[in-house]
Formats: sequence, structure tokens, C-alpha cells
Amino acid sequence: MASTPGAVVRAGYTVPTLAVFGDRETTIDIAVLVSGSGSNLQALLDRQGSYRIVLVVSDRPGVRALERAENAGVPTRVVPFEGDRESFTHAVCETVCATTAEVMVLAGFMRILGPEAIRRFPDRILNIHPSLLPSFPGANAVAKALEHGVRVTGVTVHFVDEEVDHGPIIAQVPVVVRPDDDEESLHARIQEREHEIFPAVVEALASGAIQVEGHKVTWRTNEPLPG
Ligand code: GRF
Repeated sequence: MASTPGAVVRAGYTVPTLAVFGDRETTIDIAVLVSGSGSNLQALLDRQGSYRIVLVVSDRPGVRALERAENAGVPTRVVPFEGDRESFTHAVCETVCATTAEVMVLAGFMRILGPEAIRRFPDRILNIHPSLLPSFPGANAVAKALEHGVRVTGVTVHFVDEEVDHGPIIAQVPVVVRPDDDEESLHARIQEREHEIFPAVVEALASGAIQVEGHKVTWRTNEPLPG
């Protein structure tokens, strides 16, 4: 398979290139993956400019996130989880690669993508997690933080690697736990911060401000970092 302009062959797949970050005059195209209410998707939709959402993929039909995408005129696809993680991951990758999307943004996406996705979108998959990683990875992070009795939790935006909630950390924001917090009240304050930081990180990625080396992210910017 030969490389074509704007694409490169990696691990046997033709994947889009982001070229050199910062050298681009155009916006970047992204696909957003969702499973539920899509409040982060809404925040991303509202801040489009330096990035453009070209597709929203859900593993579940009928969720509010799909409605938000449709209201914004963004194409949607439902890719149900059937069979195993490998075939699901392949179906998601094929769906995204059929568009101009260069980056996958996981916004409340409740499935784990297999290694094929990381090979085809290396350092091009972002996830948002409602805790200060590496504390409380996995599901129910807000409840786990409360149960543990931490005084500060927060939000992490990171690149996705082959381990769950583990890849290079791009940005974090602390959220103070109040003595009377329950899961709902704490998650609501966490989400307020999510809606600020996630679009800011995608904008930074589009502008070339984010570079990854090994497990570390460096920022090339004179602006204050989000968070
Ligand atoms: C967010 O809290 C996010 O951190 C987590 O799932 C939740 C999704 O919320 N991964 P929404 O669907 O964006 O409203």
C-alpha cells in the first residue's frame, strides 16, 4: 500500500497525517465517540472553529448525544458492540476512516478500544476522565473518589494508549470535594470544568501546541495552559 498525500501507511493501514502541528492553516477534522448524554459533545460542538466535528459515533442508538449531533447538522453513525472488542474496534476504525477525521475524541464513550485503534490513530485519540489520573481509573471514578475520602479530585484529558485511562496526560483541573457532596453534586461540578477544558485541549491540539514523547506531553505555547 503506497502513502498518499495527507496520509501515511502505518502498521499496514493508511492513516491520515496531522502533518507538522502548527504548520496548518486549515482546521483539523475530528470524530467524537459517545455513549450517553453528550454534554461534552455539546461543549465541543459549541467551540468549533480551529477544529471541525465531521462525525459522531455512538455504540448505543437513541442516546441524547446523537440528538445533539443531529441538531448541529453533524453526521452520526451507530456502531453497536457485537461479538468481541477486536471486531468492534475494527468497525469503529473503518467508520471513522471513511471520513476526513484525523483525530478521535472520546467524550463519555463507555467502551474500551482495542490495539487496532491505537495503531491506526497513534497519539490521535483523546479521552476525558472525571478524576485526577492515575487515581481512580475505570468506571465510577466520581463514586470511588468520594468513597476514598479524597479532598480534591478533578478532570484529566489524556491520549489513549493500550491500557485503560493510562495514556500521556495532556491537561488536568482540580475540583475540591465539599463535605456535603454526593456523587451527583460532585460530578456536576466536575462536568462544568470538563466543558471548559476539553474544547480548549482540542483547540490546542489543532494549533500544534501539544507534543508527545513517550509518556510525557509537552506544550508549546505562550498562552496559559488550560486548567
Ligand atoms: C464525563 O464525566 C466524562 O468524564 C466521562 O463520562 C462523562 C460523560 O458525560 N468519561 P457526557 O456524556 O459528556 O455528558
